[in-house]
Amino acid sequence: MTPERLRELAAELDRDDPLAGYRERFHIPRSADGGEVAYLCGNSLGLAPRNAREYVDRELLAWQERGVGGHFKHDRPWVSFHELFTDPLCRVVGGRPHEVVAMNTLTVNLHLMLTSFYRPQPGRFRVLVGHAAFPSDRYAIRSQIALRGFAPDDALVVASPRPGEHTLRTDDVIGLIERQRSELTLVLMDGVNYYTGELIDITAITDAAHRHGVLAGFDLAHAAGNVPLALHDWGVDFAAWCSYKYLNGGPGCVAGCFVHERHGLRDDSVPRLAGWWGHDKASRFAMGPDFVPIPGVEGWQLSNPPLFSLAALLASLELFSEVGMDRLRAKSEALTGFLDRALRERFPGRVEILTPADPARRGCQLSIRVKREAQETFAALLARGVVCDWREPDVIRLAPVPFYNRFADAQRCLDVFEAVASG
Ligand SMILES: Cc1ncc(COP(=O)(O)O)c(C=O)c1O
Repeated sequence: MTPERLRELAAELDRDDPLAGYRERFHIPRSADGGEVAYLCGNSLGLAPRNAREYVDRELLAWQERGVGGHFKHDRPWVSFHELFTDPLCRVVGGRPHEVVAMNTLTVNLHLMLTSFYRPQPGRFRVLVGHAAFPSDRYAIRSQIALRGFAPDDALVVASPRPGEHTLRTDDVIGLIERQRSELTLVLMDGVNYYTGELIDITAITDAAHRHGVLAGFDLAHAAGNVPLALHDWGVDFAAWCSYKYLNGGPGCVAGCFVHERHGLRDDSVPRLAGWWGHDKASRFAMGPDFVPIPGVEGWQLSNPPLFSLAALLASLELFSEVGMDRLRAKSEALTGFLDRALRERFPGRVEILTPADPARRGCQLSIRVKREAQETFAALLARGVVCDWREPDVIRLAPVPFYNRFADAQRCLDVFEAVASG
């Protein structure tokens, strides 16, 4: 397709986009020249929903006017504020009400989950992780392994792509689980990998783990709000995610956590780190000496949560409840598909897309290796107002987000590639 035809197509697709109006519900950053940027960086930090300020202001005002009274004498009492997240989080990750909670931050939640669900025994202590796991996850799991007295290098089993390939094959991961089954106790993988953008088959991997008595947990930092999830039905044991990427909760926002009800509701013997916010609500303020956990994942809470951060997240999640993951996903597939096809078609020898071409195997992010003038291309994208990021050694990540990106944003990115290619 010629650049002119691509431009026309982008305009047509924007005209016909049923979600086009949602862009106005977000603040779109502007470059120095005053024009809106093409923000393709929601994989790192999602944009601010316009309603976030009102939600945060409301709690600031309550603090101003009521002081400590805000905990109980307030139309959204802070003592139960986190319960407002149950319904919207259930929709985003496909959990049941006792299975989801907004608490802490992602790495903290991973540690809480590993404390509960990594239960190594001599002879059965191994953890299977994906090839390009995010560093924080590696640090967390290695430190947990060492804390339990095992050697991280020995205990970690890494699922890797085949030589010459960039992403994992589900059958290979399942084969590895089967080969390691007698020593494996946990699978901990990213739902969508931060580097390659690949979406793994969570349900097939969870089933394979369970067939061999292995637990399956997932880091959904790049999956939550990006792809539809059905954690309860898939039987996932636990999951954790941050809320500042596709969930648009703001920098360092309160994270999310899922514990399947088979552990959270039905099994009192799961060990955990305890704090007063996880204690039975009816008797919490009796300040008794013994910890009685709230049934379900709420029982993993430690501290009373940072309210202003939660307020911003609530604003964003209301938009998710309004639109629904299915409609977001439909636009996401069309938008990422448009960018993917155009890059492959227009620059065959120049760009290599590490992310799978199959929409079922990715979210909205494309990870691109530019074979010539990679740094120059990245610099040109930034200089022309296309906000994206670079991951060492040589990958540009582009994430057209269905909530606030237009096909015109993808087109703007393609225009920069054309300009650099033609010197
Ligand atoms: C996949 C993944 N895991 C973990 C983290 C760390 O998150 P946090 O700083 O919220 O603990 C990130 C941050 O970007 C991430 O992308």
